[in-house]
Amino acid sequence: MKSLYRKLLVRLHPYKTLHFDYLMRMRTSLAGESMLHEGNIYALDYACRHLPDEGAVLEIGSFAGMSANVISWLLRQHHKERPFYTCDPWIYDGYHDHIKADDPNYMAHFEGSQNITREEYTDFIRESFIRNTSLFSRDLLPHAIQLHAQDFFKAWGKNTPQTDVFGRKAPTGGPLSLVYIDGDHSYDAARQDVEKSLEWLVPGGFLLLDDSADFWQYGSALLAKEMRRWKNVSLVMKNPNYLYQKI
Ligand SMILES: C[S@@+](CC[C@H](N)C(=O)[O-])C[C@H]1O[C@@H](n2cnc3c(N)ncnc32)[C@H](O)[C@@H]1O
Repeated sequence: MKSLYRKLLVRLHPYKTLHFDYLMRMRTSLAGESMLHEGNIYALDYACRHLPDEGAVLEIGSFAGMSANVISWLLRQHHKERPFYTCDPWIYDGYHDHIKADDPNYMAHFEGSQNITREEYTDFIRESFIRNTSLFSRDLLPHAIQLHAQDFFKAWGKNTPQTDVFGRKAPTGGPLSLVYIDGDHSYDAARQDVEKSLEWLVPGGFLLLDDSADFWQYGSALLAKEMRRWKNVSLVMKNPNYLYQKI
């Protein structure tokens, strides 16, 4: 039933994909494969090919490192080895938090499990990120900062150096050339991420919003549609998520 629905969606909203042996093997080796829509890889490839001459690259929301590995690979493929940053607080949202907030047992554990705490799970994902990027992105290892995007941008605005999850000192601040937004998909959070990114993006810089396709109900999808009327961005493609370029 699910796959029938997926087939129908693809027929209604066709998108372009890229096929490389490296990406196929890497993606099937890591957790989080289903979180990275393959249309995003095509859009990220376009952005990396046409990246402005200056500016670091930022990913908001890293999970276990799938999209970070794809971005670092594309940057290397296109000889655009820019400073690369990611941020993620590695927080856990249960599927039923909105109706089970009063159940301390549910709120403390991984999806109804009795013996896996949320903290153990998020530590596991964070450690997976470190392992996965240490292998597949070793030639362009991102400065992965364990912060909410909002706090990341505060640090970025004040040039406050951070320590990344690999224990390296990371300078912050300066222009950005590409931001991949895949953190909190609520309208308010996605809007803050977009507005903050636009403050730092150079003209010609790119913004890709995950979960923004027309068939989604997320706040990020509502925002992406609204942005079509904004004067400071132009739509590059919907594949089916929205890729914008700063004017
Ligand atoms: C869908 S996953 C990201 C998947 C990843 N981009 C990939 O494709 O491999 C969303 C991630 O966003 C993180 N997140 C949630 N709220 C955030 C925020 N305010 N700032 C940054 N990251 C956030 C979560 O901890 C989670 O790991």
